Amino acid sequence: MPHSIPPFSRRTAWPAIPNRLALAVEAAKAAGARILDLSESNPTRCGLGYDEKAILDAFSNPAILTYAPEPSGLMVAREAVAAYYGERGTCVGAGDIVLTSSTSEAYSFLFRLLCDPGDEVLAPAPSYPLFEFLADLDDVNLAPYRLAYHDGWEIDFDSLNSALGPRTRAIVVVHPNNPTGSYVKEWEARQLGELCAERGLALVSDEVFLDYAHGGSAAARSLATDSAVPTFALSGLSKISALPQMKAAWMVASGPKDAKAAALKRLEIIADTFLSVSTPTQLALPRLLEQRRTMVPRLLDRIKRNLQALDSALSGHPTLRRLRIEGGWYAVLRVPATRCDEDVAVEVLDKQHVLLHPGHFYDFPRDGYLVLSLITPEEVFSEGVQRGLKALAGC
Ligand SMILES: Cc1ncc(COP(=O)(O)O)c(C=O)c1O
Repeated sequence: MPHSIPPFSRRTAWPAIPNRLALAVEAAKAAGARILDLSESNPTRCGLGYDEKAILDAFSNPAILTYAPEPSGLMVAREAVAAYYGERGTCVGAGDIVLTSSTSEAYSFLFRLLCDPGDEVLAPAPSYPLFEFLADLDDVNLAPYRLAYHDGWEIDFDSLNSALGPRTRAIVVVHPNNPTGSYVKEWEARQLGELCAERGLALVSDEVFLDYAHGGSAAARSLATDSAVPTFALSGLSKISALPQMKAAWMVASGPKDAKAAALKRLEIIADTFLSVSTPTQLALPRLLEQRRTMVPRLLDRIKRNLQALDSALSGHPTLRRLRIEGGWYAVLRVPATRCDEDVAVEVLDKQHVLLHPGHFYDFPRDGYLVLSLITPEEVFSEGVQRGLKALAGC
């Protein structure tokens, strides 16, 4: 008998049902509700105001008419990235940089570089929800290690040590982490370095939010050169210049000389297989990266105002609390764990048409956590927070 469905891989057997919160959003929209979206993470939808002329002019270059690919990226783009690190006091050579179309793609290149099918990568929890999909797609097992909260988030090294196994190949850190807003502290970086050196592991440092240190927090250093171990620091225009649509990111290889050279050679072949970053984007990258000079301060100002609005609204709700953050685009609320976070988020949406993310999207260890995006337009944020907290207090 002929098969009507092709034999799909097990790795793509994702649940076909949308989550309950997504269904509730669809239902509210269908009923004509105006939703106050406090989960908005797309900066191009946040009314930030871009320098349109500068961005469009960046692509007005006759050189985009010629295709002369360089697998790791055109030198002019890699030099601009190296200069960005230089300005932050981190010495990086353009030859140590590999361009990719997104940080996600950089992860995929690294998983293929470091892991055979079934090998393991350790990643923080709570953290960025896409890790699981990225790992699955490259047949890598993701083993979570916990971040613990004691008046600020830190790596739970007991949990990290017990997650290590014979097939562990790398440890991922998110610096600062999404959504906890916690940077990797100096002592944590030292301890991670020792552990990786001892076990022969690579360190992958996701630094897409590195520049978003909040007022009072010291500007954080990239882990790009902190390396007696092979280290790969990832970042890109998506957050640095608030231009996710440009699809331009990179990784910086550092660490022991021979290991770094061998890694870069292999990465060059992986990159050559795809040649995924378009020539126009690469040629525009130096000017697009310049956009950070206005976009980072603008976003930090937005974040500061939204945090003030949140804290002032929280002062009227003693059962709700904001956890400490040092940087990034998100805030985490601690709420009474009377029900599962998804139920709470659905109720807030149904009652007040305010969209918050439940903690379980990010793999918090238990119920009682909700996540808000601090880059949301200010008027939406303050109204959403007032209404959302009212609903939460009654949950
Ligand atoms: C921690 C982290 N890494 C990577 C990304 C994605 O970056 P890109 O758009 O370059 O794939 C995000 C997006 O929100 C993120 O939160």
